[in-house]
Amino acid sequence: MTMLDTSDVAVASKAPWHDLFERLLAELDRRATPAGHRDSAVEMASLDPAIYRDAAHFERERARLFRRLPLCLGHIDQLEPGSVLAREICGVPVLLSRARDGEVRAFLNVCRHRGARVLTEQDVVCHRQSLVCPYHNWTYRLDGCLAGVPRADAFPGLDKARRGLRALPSAVRHGLIFAVLDPDAGPIDIASYLGGLDEDLEAIGMGRHRFYRQHAVTRATNWKLIVDAFLEVYHVTRLHAGTIGSFFHDSVSAAEPVGRHLRYLVARETTGEIRTLPAECWSPQRHATMVHLVFPNSVIVYHPDYISHLGMFPTAADETLFVHTMLTPDRPADEKAETHWARSFELMDTAVFNGEDLAVCEQIQRGLSSGANDRLLLGHLERNLRWFHGNLAEVAG
Ligand code: FES
Repeated sequence: MTMLDTSDVAVASKAPWHDLFERLLAELDRRATPAGHRDSAVEMASLDPAIYRDAAHFERERARLFRRLPLCLGHIDQLEPGSVLAREICGVPVLLSRARDGEVRAFLNVCRHRGARVLTEQDVVCHRQSLVCPYHNWTYRLDGCLAGVPRADAFPGLDKARRGLRALPSAVRHGLIFAVLDPDAGPIDIASYLGGLDEDLEAIGMGRHRFYRQHAVTRATNWKLIVDAFLEVYHVTRLHAGTIGSFFHDSVSAAEPVGRHLRYLVARETTGEIRTLPAECWSPQRHATMVHLVFPNSVIVYHPDYISHLGMFPTAADETLFVHTMLTPDRPADEKAETHWARSFELMDTAVFNGEDLAVCEQIQRGLSSGANDRLLLGHLERNLRWFHGNLAEVAG
C-alpha cells in the first residue's frame, strides 16, 4: 500500500497562481513603504526601434515564429457543427471548419485545382453543407475531402483522395483552437507547448467558456508594440485614466515566466481583500487581473466576469491583424445579461483596446522613423518587455 505524501497533496491543491498572489501582496506592502518606489535591483534597458520596422527582421519573425509555432486561432464555441471561418493569418489563407462530427480542422483555404480561394467570405462564420470553389466549382466536404469535380471526364486518372484540402497541423485544447501555418509540420502537442499554463487554463475553466463576440481589425502598427502594451502596467492608470484606470493600483504587479510564456497578476483595488480570505478563494479575476502571454502572439486577459483573448497576427512590419475574442462563463440568459455583456465588450474593445492601446501603438509606429529615439527606454516597471524581447531574439534571431 502506498503511503500518502501530504506535501504532494498540499502542492496539488494549490492554485497555479497562488505563489504569484503571495508575491503580489508583498509588492503591495513594499509599495506602501517610503522606499517602495525604488527598485535598484533592476537596471534600465532599451530596445532598438528597428525591431518594429525593419522588413528583414519581420521576415525572420514570420519564418521562425509565425510559420513554425502553434498559434491560437480561436475558440471552438465560435464554430457550430456545420460552420466554417476563413481568415488570412500572417499572409496564409486559413480555413477553420467544424464538420457535423463536431471536430474542428484547419486547412489552407486554397483550391486543389488551380488555387483559388475556396471560401471567399472572410472573417465571418458561415454555415455550409459543403465548400464549393467559385472558379470551376470543385466541391469539398467540411472534413476537407474532395467530393465533386464538374466534368470529371476532363481529368482522366484524377485521384480525388489525394486532392482534398491541405490540412494544417491543429488541435483543440481547453476550447482554444491551435494550428501551425505550415502544412508540412508534424503533429502538435499543445499541452506540452503550454507547459505550466495548461494547468491555469484547466483551473480557470477556459474550455467551459462560451463565445460571445469577436472583432478583427487591421491596425497600422507592428505586432510587438501591441504585445508590449499588455506586458506592462505602468501605463494603466495613465493612458486608461478615463476608462478602467481607477480599478487598479498604480503599477503594482507580479509576473513569472512559464517557459517562454508568462503568468502575470496586476493588482486591482480589491487585491488587499485576500488577506482575510483562505487561499482557495483568491480569484485571479476578482482580486487581480491575470494576464497570460502564450508565446509568441496571444494575450489572454481575465476580467472579473469574462475573458478577452487577443491574437496579434502581423501582415507586415508595420501592420497587424488584431483579433479580440470575448468569452463568457455562460451564454446571456436574458436581455439584461445581453446588455451587460454588450456594454462590457463595447468598453473593452472599442474604448480601451482600440481607442487607447492600439491608437498609441499606431502613434509609436509612425514616430519610429522620425529619428527622435535611437533607443526606446525600458524602466524597471517594464521588465516583462525586456524578458519578452529576449525570448524573441533567441527564437527569431
Ligand atoms: Fe477551384 Fe478551379 S480553382 S475549381
